[in-house]
Amino acid sequence: MEKLKIAGGYPLKGTIKVSGAKNSAVALIPATILADSPVTIEGLPEISDVLTLQSLLEEIGGTVSFEDGEMRVDPSEMISMPLPSGKVKKLRASYYLMGAMLGRFKKAAIGLPGGCHLGPRPIDQHIKGFEALGAEVTNEQGAIYLRADELRGARIYLDVVSVGATINIMLAAVRAKGRTIIENAAKEPEIIDVATLLTNMGAKIKGAGTDVIRIDGVEELSGCRHTIIPDRIEAGTYMILAAASGSGVLIDNVIPLHLESLIAKLREMKVPIEVGAEQVFIGKADHINSVDIKTLVYPGFPTDLQQPFTTLLTKAEGSAVVTDTIYSARFKHIDELRRMNANIKVEGRSAIVNGPIQLQGAKVKASDLRAGAALVIAGLLAEGITEVTGLEHIDRGYSNLVEKLEGLGATIWREKMSAEELEQLKSS
Ligand code: EPU
Repeated sequence: MEKLKIAGGYPLKGTIKVSGAKNSAVALIPATILADSPVTIEGLPEISDVLTLQSLLEEIGGTVSFEDGEMRVDPSEMISMPLPSGKVKKLRASYYLMGAMLGRFKKAAIGLPGGCHLGPRPIDQHIKGFEALGAEVTNEQGAIYLRADELRGARIYLDVVSVGATINIMLAAVRAKGRTIIENAAKEPEIIDVATLLTNMGAKIKGAGTDVIRIDGVEELSGCRHTIIPDRIEAGTYMILAAASGSGVLIDNVIPLHLESLIAKLREMKVPIEVGAEQVFIGKADHINSVDIKTLVYPGFPTDLQQPFTTLLTKAEGSAVVTDTIYSARFKHIDELRRMNANIKVEGRSAIVNGPIQLQGAKVKASDLRAGAALVIAGLLAEGITEVTGLEHIDRGYSNLVEKLEGLGATIWREKMSAEELEQLKSS
């Protein structure tokens, strides 16, 4: 097992290129199950979630190749093999195997998903959708079993705006008989990306990106080629990093429209920012103001950037309130930032950040993916050496992180953990 070491306090400069979107990738790959012939997806990020899904598709009989970000999936020999345990537990998005396998085989058995611990993360809305389409859903010893004689289109109102439920219901509905209408659907760009792939495969979907999605089921779907959208959360992470410790950073391969809430907040803080068609330039920010943020569903401020943004606020003048309305417990990074000298306290669903503070290098642990990003930014901003453990979380979502940051002049490297450190980590 490895840890990350960072010598912080040096300004970063140069260009950093954003990879394909993790939260699209983890839905696009299961979506290939629905086709009868090979599907190719270009621009996938090289992250462990993608590799885990590749091997899950292989487990159910898919033939998959993955090279230079291009994945080719031949789903023709796939079978509805039960996946009640094993690799499905490694990532939350394995729940998309439920919708895709139900859509193609009318049955699936998938272990309850893993992923980041951010407080309660129920999947009741996914199940409500599958049941409305005619599936019988049972929970047997930690795995969800889905069975249907046939799937029939239905009108489904989501009680909670959910990215996962919206995509999962789309996956199950594209080969159902008749029309499905999803009301109060999530509007994230990743939903449009998945709908685009499915449409290219032959599905009939209207309204993806709005809160009402209409799907007319088709008998069969066939292979196609699809290019994934850039990762707005990775782009946002690097924009926040550039605002925290950059002296002129160009973030390349961005769709700025996907990041309007972050761009608005950075402008409010007086961060110099120039927005191009596919690039964002963040200039050197000497003196930044505090701003409050509240996470909301898209196009509101994304919960996935709340943790990195908290690190930036330690450098801002004044007191800021960070409120997460999506996940009640997405504050595990705060204790670690405090170890690095941050002045932050948590009150209910909010964190109050007082700045500016000079962060100091320390030994810290990433409890989840975006906590990891927050700590890496903190390490680059801090004086002295920071050690970050829990890299398995960061590797789930940030492609070639060390190499990309080295490209900006960062001093950051991976190091093997000693037996003693591994013991300490286990008992912590
Ligand atoms: N919710 C329910 N019932 C459900 C589904 C969701 O109550 O059936 C609640 C959740 O507990 C949460 C809210 O609804 O409070 C929103 O959850 P959503 O379903 O939208 O989240 P998700 O689909 O499980 C995706 C991303 C997350 C991101 C959220 C919110 C993927 C694989 N994950 O999760 O990304 O935080 O949407 O935008 O797409 C990350 O990338 O670090 C990450 C955690």
